[in-house]
Amino acid sequence: MSPSHPIELWQKDCVHAARIGGEILKEYQGRVVPHEKGPRDLVTEADLASQKAIELYLTQRFPEHLILGEESDPETRRHASENPDGRVRWVIDPLDGTTNFVHQLPNYCVSVAVERDGVIWAGAVYNPVSDECFHAGRGFGAWLNDRELKTSRCIKLEEALLAVGFSAGIQRGSVEVRRFEELLYQARAIRRLGSAALNLCYVAAGRLDGFFATSVRPWDVAAGILLIEEAGGIVTDIQGKPFDLIRAHVATAATSALHEQMGQHLFTVS
Ligand code: IPD
Ligand code: CA
Ligand code: CA
Repeated sequence: MSPSHPIELWQKDCVHAARIGGEILKEYQGRVVPHEKGPRDLVTEADLASQKAIELYLTQRFPEHLILGEESDPETRRHASENPDGRVRWVIDPLDGTTNFVHQLPNYCVSVAVERDGVIWAGAVYNPVSDECFHAGRGFGAWLNDRELKTSRCIKLEEALLAVGFSAGIQRGSVEVRRFEELLYQARAIRRLGSAALNLCYVAAGRLDGFFATSVRPWDVAAGILLIEEAGGIVTDIQGKPFDLIRAHVATAATSALHEQMGQHLFTVS
């Protein structure tokens, strides 16, 4: 089902909302005290303030829509996860790369996407440090500020620069680590940059050739997945099946040839 609201307008709202969050992050940069919400899983006042400001903007503009935000209050999030009447949902990570933010490593962002019936219609990822805004609308291309993006043409795993995402509570010998090891000796290099949303944008922009992660949440990836699709890349889940926003894993590549080679090492590991 296509949205009743024009996609290009939703794309603009995603950009605006992501920039609102980015301005809040700039205000808090360098003066936050992190708290652990799980083992090695940090949250700060900045995460919460960014979430609140984005929610305020979106609920004023679209009072009938749902908000699925990482730092939404639990009841709002539960209702949006269940989404019993199939409403439009805004999927928000108010700060992706919180650990980088806390350490003042300038690789973090705000991610905002709009989804209905499992289809991502528009999305934006904003890095307030570099002032880079990656954005896309389904059928309207992928963009970095006002430049259109295409994935790289990499077709050989041995020439590929990949990135991996690990969950905060990663365990020795886990399936996540085994998948990483499978590719470590095959690719040119593998980076762990600390922001799933930016990793996806970097694949869309041709800075990386592929990205894979075993444990991601919808708000980490919703906007970035659309960017890769619109930039001509390939996205599946980590077993090579169609990507599902709720299933929480992802394997992406710039080209289908590269995706197939990554898959030979990823898809069989369980
Ligand atoms: C995390 C980052 C990280 C990824 C984790 C995410 P957060 O998000 O995207 O790169 O590996 O799985 O949870 O906690 O910084 O929003
Ligand atoms: Ca995140
Ligand atoms: Ca986050």
